[in-house]
Amino acid sequence: MERTFLMIKPDGVQRGLIGEIVSRFERKGLQLQAAKFMQISRERAEIHYADHKGKPFYEPLLEFITSGPVFAMVWSGDNVIALTRAMIGKTDAIDAAPGTIRSDFAVHTNFNLIHGSDSAASAEREIGIFFSPEELVDYEHTI
Ligand code: CMP
Repeated sequence: MERTFLMIKPDGVQRGLIGEIVSRFERKGLQLQAAKFMQISRERAEIHYADHKGKPFYEPLLEFITSGPVFAMVWSGDNVIALTRAMIGKTDAIDAAPGTIRSDFAVHTNFNLIHGSDSAASAEREIGIFFSPEELVDYEHTI
């Protein structure tokens, strides 16, 4: 069983898409382990996006991600990292396959609604930035 960190960004919250997006992962059969509605500090955003430091979109990205509340989540399931990334779609909405979250709801790379971990190592690192171990709930999931 694998786990991943997913975060609905400020544009997703502002546009009232939390329910729609969470519903897609629920209907897929993935297991929610933790969720938190929160405002990200500049410090936490810098840690989360450390890999992008120095890139042209880094500053706008930090400004955007700290501009309003986000909905941070941990989901688990077999191949959950690849599955959720496939459901989210490519970073640029133009390249996102039809039926993906970004294809269905996003227009711009900077406002692409949701972040998803890209590897098991990233998932563990990102979960640790947003959640303490006791906030992750293990329970029977019979699907
Ligand atoms: P995310 O999955 O949160 O990871 C980094 C974010 O930077 C990405 O989604 C986009 O929102 C944003 N971004 C803006 N421009 C680019 C770009 N050219 N390449 C990758 N990410 C970008």
